[in-house]
Amino acid sequence: MASHRRSPVKPLIIALALVLALPAPASAGPRPPRDLRELAHQQGIKIGSAVNIAALRDEADYRKMLNHQFTHVTAENAMKWESVEPERGRYTWADADALVHNAHRNRQRVRGHTLVWHNQLPAWLTEGVADGSITPRELKGILRDHITTQVRRYKGKIRAWDVVNEVVEEDGSLRQSIWLTHLGPGYIADAFRWAHRADPHAKLYINDYNIEWNAPKIETTFSLVKDLKAQGVPIHGVGFQGHLGIQYDYPADWANVMRRFAGLGMEIAITELDVRMVLPVTPEKLATQAGYYRRALTDCLSVKACKEFTVWGFTDRHSWVPGWFDGEGAACLLDENLAPKPAYRALLGVRAR
Ligand code: G3I
Repeated sequence: MASHRRSPVKPLIIALALVLALPAPASAGPRPPRDLRELAHQQGIKIGSAVNIAALRDEADYRKMLNHQFTHVTAENAMKWESVEPERGRYTWADADALVHNAHRNRQRVRGHTLVWHNQLPAWLTEGVADGSITPRELKGILRDHITTQVRRYKGKIRAWDVVNEVVEEDGSLRQSIWLTHLGPGYIADAFRWAHRADPHAKLYINDYNIEWNAPKIETTFSLVKDLKAQGVPIHGVGFQGHLGIQYDYPADWANVMRRFAGLGMEIAITELDVRMVLPVTPEKLATQAGYYRRALTDCLSVKACKEFTVWGFTDRHSWVPGWFDGEGAACLLDENLAPKPAYRALLGVRAR
């Protein structure tokens, strides 16, 4: 009598089909972040945006998006000298105060921008220096008072200050500002010392553009930071602005440059990232732009000292780019209607830490 042997193949196929039909096990790693705030928490980094104060005040959708997505903010203009002291001795803090208040209500840390710059200075100051009615000696006192007054006002409320902004030229020389011309290079160390005295816990930064790739600028900034450290000047961080454009190559060595400054004991931040393009917008350009944003975040996350990743505005509705570069724009993560662009989704896909 022939015995009836059951084939082992059929039950195997059934088992395999069942396994394939099951959802992936819950232990497959953290789920993808739903937004930038969740990404920031997962990756252990602060993700910030510059804030347009008028939009924060007047546009509910802008306000909601900013407060929901970001864990860090920088005033785009509201803390600059011309904004806080438009007339000599008359301070106007309303906008800066509103920004700091909104940040704290929404669990966001704040970068103060900026104490010493050659731009957006009030006319009373530049004209006074130009016509000689403000002497160099007086100018030094004015700078010390400005720094002390502003840093003290926000003591304990500002995580990091851009103490000096853009003090190096493209050719690696120190910038010929009213500060260098009338006070000499010592104004830089003085600025850090005065800021530190006014808030000993704030992280004090030097901040600049093109130090992502421009060798003369990088070398001078590096020597400057090294010298300041050697003199015991309280400098704690280097801010890379990161104003990029897809018509130029991505700064491929950026992570190494960050590492060099980290080697001097500096905290690192990307402080003003945006990635502009020559208009019109095309799907190809948006894809390239997404790659730049993704690489910038990946570079930052690859350097342990990089603690903050801030974009210079999050929506094309409010961006400095079209006003400054003829025929260029679309530099931000969200479009004019606050719809996410490929760059936004690319950031959510970055896993590094
Ligand atoms: O406040 C006046 C307003 O009263 C006037 O009606 C209007 C007309 O043009 O101008 C307003 O001032 C403008 C100001 O932004 C505030 O909106 C200035 O014209 C305009 O030049 C100024 O531009 C700012 C720029 O810095 C000045 O250098 C941009 O918004 C700001 O995004 C940009 O930010 C800088 C960082 O601070 C440092 N790194 C580079 C970055 C981009 O340039």
